[in-house]
Amino acid sequence: MLTAYDYPTAAFAERAGVDILLVGDSAAMTMMGLPATTCIGMPEMTVFVRSVCRAVRRAFVVGDLPFMSYQPSDEVAIVNAGAFITAGCDAVKCEGGARVAARVRAMTDAGIAVMGHLGLTPQSLGQLGGYRVQGKTRAAAERLVEDALALEEAGAFAVLLEGMPAETAAYVRERISILTYGIGAGPHVDGQLLISHDMLGSFVGDIRPRFVKRYADVGALIEAAIQAYAIDVRVGRFPAAEHCYPAGQAGEALLRPSVNRVPEPAVA
Ligand code: KIV
Repeated sequence: MLTAYDYPTAAFAERAGVDILLVGDSAAMTMMGLPATTCIGMPEMTVFVRSVCRAVRRAFVVGDLPFMSYQPSDEVAIVNAGAFITAGCDAVKCEGGARVAARVRAMTDAGIAVMGHLGLTPQSLGQLGGYRVQGKTRAAAERLVEDALALEEAGAFAVLLEGMPAETAAYVRERISILTYGIGAGPHVDGQLLISHDMLGSFVGDIRPRFVKRYADVGALIEAAIQAYAIDVRVGRFPAAEHCYPAGQAGEALLRPSVNRVPEPAVA
């Protein structure tokens, strides 16, 4: 499972054999440079969802319901979750346990597949006191189990466990019947999630969580390629003859005055 927010990333991920794409509200930071997931809403998320769904043929797409798109009421939750399904998602995800169980029930009763999200839930960072690992005590692990069971009872088909010790995730998984996915929750889950920008090295920002394995440095590649282009343009190396359309006779005549005008190399 990997996050995707745009058409090319979704197409590459699918070709690479990823089973599930999450159009995460992490798009606030990865795609828009915003400070937190609470800063993104349905209009922006809908654009990302539509872009991903257009690329996908086989993968299962989960649309991440943004802050305040499901909290206010059952009706608001159904309308917004329904909009993601209409746009092509197979399921939606929302954060929280027992306290959102009624919303999850309302959405599943409306025929919508719902994935829960427990542990480090970024939409409630204020309540959690920041990006802190969750479920580190026996009592906290028990509360996670209660929340996961509440989601299961409300009809969720899976729960994503974020930012907790591997033992805690295993403890939760052993006590519920629905699928568990993990991000920063160790290996004892049914599937793993990473944020595409983290594993590709294209996140512009300072957050580098311990759980991320970086598989590429795409940001450095992009920067080097653009720098090479800028230098080529400034020294007059681009465009070269092979990048120009050949002119016919009439075109040659028209262009003759400017053909001899050699551009001044600019200072890079
Ligand atoms: O928005 C997202 O990508 C997420 C993951 C961090 C779990 O919800």
